[in-house]
Amino acid sequence: MKSIGGALEARGHRVEYHKLEAKRPMGWFASGWAALRKKEADLAEDIPKNLRMYELVLIAGPVLAGKTSAELNTFLNNMPDGIGRRFGVFATSGTGGAEGQLRSIKSRVERAGGFIIYEDTVKRQIAMDLHECGRRAEEIAEQLMRPWVW
Ligand SMILES: Cc1cc2nc3c(=O)[nH]c(=O)nc-3n(C[C@H](O)[C@H](O)[C@H](O)COP(=O)(O)O)c2cc1C
Repeated sequence: MKSIGGALEARGHRVEYHKLEAKRPMGWFASGWAALRKKEADLAEDIPKNLRMYELVLIAGPVLAGKTSAELNTFLNNMPDGIGRRFGVFATSGTGGAEGQLRSIKSRVERAGGFIIYEDTVKRQIAMDLHECGRRAEEIAEQLMRPWVW
């Protein structure tokens, strides 16, 4: 997300980052179990109260046991009004697919009134490769800014 944010900032946009971190960080087993059970987590940082001041909201989270993380569930299940806001949604995954997880994010964004203009899956392998990550971020920034969705 930082790379995509950087690519947007380089194009003159103001970007704000909110990391969805649990107050009490979980180990890999507990995070997988919490995701599988569709749990939420107490977040260390408050969620923005409304999204009206944002022209574009980007949401990203890992695929855990084929589901959204508990941290992301806290945001998606308590999402501020997203009516008329544009959203880009992202999944990071290991080796598996992310269709179910993305579908689950999209349905909650749409329920909050959001309008999805972009969705993508980024494999962990690409996210770990600085050069590839930067290249991909540039492509994604171009897609997010494509004139016909604005
Ligand atoms: C408990 C657990 C379950 C996971 N389940 C999946 C999965 O079902 N499918 C998949 O493609 N990747 C899975 N992964 C890999 C993560 O999606 C991947 O590591 C993550 O997106 C990369 O983000 P990170 O750098 O924060 O770890 C799992 C990872 C953990 C720790």
